[in-house]
Amino acid sequence: MKIIKWLSSFYTKSPSMSKKRYLVTAALPYANGPLHIGHLAGAYLPADIFVRYLRLMGKDVVFVCGSDEHGAAITVKARKEETTPRAVVDKYHAMLRDTFQKIGISFDIYHRTTEPIHHHTSQDFFRKLNENQAFLEETTEQYYDENVGQFLADRYIVGTCPVCANPEAYGDQCEKCGSALSPTDLINPHSMLSGSVPVKRPTKHWFLRLDQHEAWLREWINTGIADGKQLHNPADWKNHVIGQCNSWLDQGLQPRAMTRDLDWGVDVPQEIPGSEGKKLYVWLDAPIGYISATKQWALDKGKDWEPYWKSDETALVHFIGKDNIVFHCLIFPAILTAHGGYILPVNVPANQFLNLEGRKLSTSKNWAVWVHEYCEEFAGQEDVLRFNMIKKMPEQSDSEFTWKGFQETNNNELVNNLANFVNRVLVLSHKYYSGVVPRIDTEITFNSGWETAKTGQYNEELNLLHEKLQEMGAAIERYELREALRILMEISSAGNALLQFNEPWKTVKEAPEMVKVVMNLAIQYVAVLSVAIRPFLPFAADRLRKMLNINPLHDNGDLLEILNELVEGNPVIPAQHALNEPEHLFSRIPDEVIDKQIAKLTATEAPAQSPNDSSTSTNCQPLKELIQFDDFAKLDLRTGTIQTAEKVEKSKKLLKLSVDLGFETRTILSGIAEHFTPEQVIGQQVVIVANLAPRVMMGTESQGMILMAEDEEGKLSFVSPAAAWPNGMGVR
Ligand code: 2FM
Ligand code: ZN
Repeated sequence: MKIIKWLSSFYTKSPSMSKKRYLVTAALPYANGPLHIGHLAGAYLPADIFVRYLRLMGKDVVFVCGSDEHGAAITVKARKEETTPRAVVDKYHAMLRDTFQKIGISFDIYHRTTEPIHHHTSQDFFRKLNENQAFLEETTEQYYDENVGQFLADRYIVGTCPVCANPEAYGDQCEKCGSALSPTDLINPHSMLSGSVPVKRPTKHWFLRLDQHEAWLREWINTGIADGKQLHNPADWKNHVIGQCNSWLDQGLQPRAMTRDLDWGVDVPQEIPGSEGKKLYVWLDAPIGYISATKQWALDKGKDWEPYWKSDETALVHFIGKDNIVFHCLIFPAILTAHGGYILPVNVPANQFLNLEGRKLSTSKNWAVWVHEYCEEFAGQEDVLRFNMIKKMPEQSDSEFTWKGFQETNNNELVNNLANFVNRVLVLSHKYYSGVVPRIDTEITFNSGWETAKTGQYNEELNLLHEKLQEMGAAIERYELREALRILMEISSAGNALLQFNEPWKTVKEAPEMVKVVMNLAIQYVAVLSVAIRPFLPFAADRLRKMLNINPLHDNGDLLEILNELVEGNPVIPAQHALNEPEHLFSRIPDEVIDKQIAKLTATEAPAQSPNDSSTSTNCQPLKELIQFDDFAKLDLRTGTIQTAEKVEKSKKLLKLSVDLGFETRTILSGIAEHFTPEQVIGQQVVIVANLAPRVMMGTESQGMILMAEDEEGKLSFVSPAAAWPNGMGVR
């Protein structure tokens, strides 16, 4: 590989991109089910694109992942399948590993947290944290399911979120509003194991002193500075990631239990008094799984794992979905710091969620596209799914997959743009030059593919390609993968336009020397694409290189080499090189194939089984008669917060509330006493009808009405925001 003169300027755009080595992690999926497209779009595909790009740029990068095999996700599944946790993780670990491989996620290691090396690594962490007095040992009252004889933490217990009223919040977190919860925060808690209402019993646990980490975490997240060092630029982080961290920090970090009373998981080290029957909290051991995976990779390769985790010259990047943000941005960094000697992530580019055909993806309702099924039914078209997932990647907000959209992007972009261009170039090269790259006079001008009526010159066009590749790389470095893909497709469009504007099929007789230049350049476009598509469409890259009869990519500096040639005005494929016969890079997907998938989705949809399923359809009440807009506009709806709440004497139904509207405080009598206790509603954000005529009830004037949603069983939920809102805002 040549020395690249301009390389330093290429790299210095972002300090975190100029590190000596990279450790890239993708969230360890629970080994309790197959992989669906939401997982793929959330963490694995963006991580894979980023890593493949780094490899093409000749970077030292290790990409680790593995199955998360502990925690309630596994044991609850084992109970449901009437088998053992071991059988569950063995089955799904193999399935996940194979699916990742089939869809082209190029991990350097796909490990598992049941491996002894992981148990030892996690236990060593626990010992060190204990030694460093990172824990508080405390006996507290915890929920216990008397029917099954087990304490209920995390996903063993569900109930209504006190912040957003989601009725399916877990004991550790509400996945709807992202709030950190303890089982005792849940309203109407019940056991996931037996459905019963739990009782409280005392038990001892080790609590990580997260309160002691709050100040530095706040500074690090918001300024990038920790321990006096500028570790990252917060402007490089996604807003929603910083926002979610701050919303946790604003609630105040509390000590968090790092142990559980369970019989499946990593044992608390035996020599620690009181360790009997105690296991590590899954969110303590899982991220340590990234470290044990790196250790195993290093052992396998005869390398040293430590620089990847302990050197300031390493950029650590965690790819995750938004439900994992606080664990990777607050809790794991606190654990690493409490241990000492480890680096912090330079970025955690979490994605939001992908919806499917207008609804939330749901494992329990089988409302999903399963990647292993896709790989079977669309064998050889793995890149088509990858392409669509990147186009629809929920980078800044939730996005949506539809089968029709999948068909359209395949037919319009992969077939009509990319495959069509490649095919035309190869077919014409065989037709005019028997597949041999023509020798050219680079001074001859032609019409550029980049702008209509602009004169093109061979070397300048190579420079333009160089610029576009740099733009694409810069977008990947900013984790803007949709934008990177757009730039990539622009190269293909410009290639098509180059042919269109010069019409070799018409001009080959009258201007054969000009056509040679155009065709030689078009071949260079195809060669550039064979490398540039690699991060996004790795299988197509291989096929393309075969058609071009050039070496398979070695995924180590290939893009760098091309950039170097282009900037010096050198072609990527020399004249006289013999091309192979063209094959179709992508083919049209007919309507029948898509209709079959849509029918399958609806036909295999299962009735809701789990309370963690928010896409349950309801038996809705019939709609009321139509009103005009003016009728609606008469309502003055406002946001507010319940400040105080008390029972109304002699009334079973009414709670007397004072609601802060920002500009004034109202007394409101609300018929919710059978659903909520006064303690449960204090602090609740609500929407009220602020211009409802006052009404006296039980001797008190009620000055408004609180909006509530009611399900078919009469259960009430507050209409409230996903994130905090100021009081007094109008609601339209
Ligand atoms: O949410 C999940 O699927 C978790 N298994 C992710 C763990 S990521 C890491 F910390 F291991
Ligand atoms: Zn919530």
